[in-house]
Amino acid sequence: MRMRHKPWAEDYLREHPEIVDIDCDHANSVSQWFDNDHPIHIEVGSGMGQFITTLASQNPHINYIAIERDKNVMIRVLDKVRDKGLTNIKLLCNDAVVLTDYFATNEVARIYLNFSDPWPKTRHAKRRLTYHTFLAIYQQILHEDGDIHFKTDNRGLFAYSLESMSQYGMYFTKINLNLHEEDAEDNIETEYEHKFAEKGSRIYRMEAKFHAPKA
Ligand SMILES: C[S@@+](CC[C@H](N)C(=O)[O-])C[C@H]1O[C@@H](n2cnc3c(N)ncnc32)[C@H](O)[C@@H]1O
Repeated sequence: MRMRHKPWAEDYLREHPEIVDIDCDHANSVSQWFDNDHPIHIEVGSGMGQFITTLASQNPHINYIAIERDKNVMIRVLDKVRDKGLTNIKLLCNDAVVLTDYFATNEVARIYLNFSDPWPKTRHAKRRLTYHTFLAIYQQILHEDGDIHFKTDNRGLFAYSLESMSQYGMYFTKINLNLHEEDAEDNIETEYEHKFAEKGSRIYRMEAKFHAPKA
């Protein structure tokens, strides 16, 4: 997602430390940011935040955390959180590679990956959010029964992610090869999804879990 550079974005984010963490202030203690112990669901690469802010307004008994590294994009999520007056969502303006600095082992109940950057060149595969190094991070922070929900319009990234996850030892509890035709009823669209679906692109979706470690 390319957004025009806004020189004021960082100052705006810093004005709202009750919602946004920009300096790792909540490392090892994100869950304590909420004044309850509701389950934590996170979205990695939230973009402008339509998906996660809609979920947060529909599910007050879940605590949501949006992770987005681009400050020029994160300001759009902050605007939505403030406009909707949401108290069950916090924003981490950082790269997903440092997720284990924020979350304890087994702390997260669900991870959403929506329309992640496909990085189609093989030499950039390490940047894909379903590359095995990212899966290892998710495995560490996810609860044993936790899951990953993944959506994309990019067939190549979808195929890659199925392979990467199954090679890592994950299994799939749901796969849709044409989400908007097959199972759209409860679907919450992201900004990218809306744009691509309007153009007629097929949307792929899956839900995946890590096998529990053997006793
Ligand atoms: C293609 S956009 C999709 C945005 C949104 N999920 C949607 O569907 O509308 C991908 C977003 O992920 C963010 N992103 C990519 N890699 C990331 C990483 N390693 N850590 C945090 N954010 C990342 C990008 O900055 C961008 O805003």
